[in-house]
This record gives sequence, C-alpha cells and structure tokens, in this order.
Amino acid sequence: MRVTPRRGEHVLLCNVGGSIYAVRDMCTHDGGILGFGDLKEEVIECPRHGAKFDVTTGKAVAPPATAPIRTYPVRVQDGQIEVDLDA
Ligand code: FES
Repeated sequence: MRVTPRRGEHVLLCNVGGSIYAVRDMCTHDGGILGFGDLKEEVIECPRHGAKFDVTTGKAVAPPATAPIRTYPVRVQDGQIEVDLDA
C-alpha cells in the first residue's frame, strides 16, 4: 500500500507474514516506484529495471541498485498503523 504523508515523501507499507514494514517508495537506482512492483515474502522488485530490496532492512539484494532504500519504524496500535517519519 502506498501512502503519502503531509510532508510529501511517498511511503510504501508492506505486509510480510503479518508484520508491517514501511519503506520509502522510491528505488535508489533511478527513482522507480516500488509500489508498482511485486512483493514476494520480504523482497520487493522494482518494476523498471528489476532491482530487488529486502523491505525488512532496506538492503539492496539484486542489481542494478546497490544503495539501500530508507526504512521507517512502524507501530501497530489499536488497529492503526503508525510510521515514524523522523527516525
Ligand atoms: S529504477 Fe529501479 S531498478 Fe532502475
């Protein structure tokens, strides 16, 4: 799920085995929108050139991207997903 907080940085929420992870929704290779890619277990594939990232750590796990994507702390409380954008 792609969300846009008031500050404008797109954030992607990923459900991995029932746990929610939040990452910046922008590929570090050339700005692809990761939210349009496929999430298989903890790995999301960029739809533009196929880079892959581990959404639990942000680490790039397949080229052409080498830099990690930003991750954000997440807390689920009373059915609400809270993302700390300042961490
Ligand atoms: S923009 Fe994502 S792999 Fe190129």
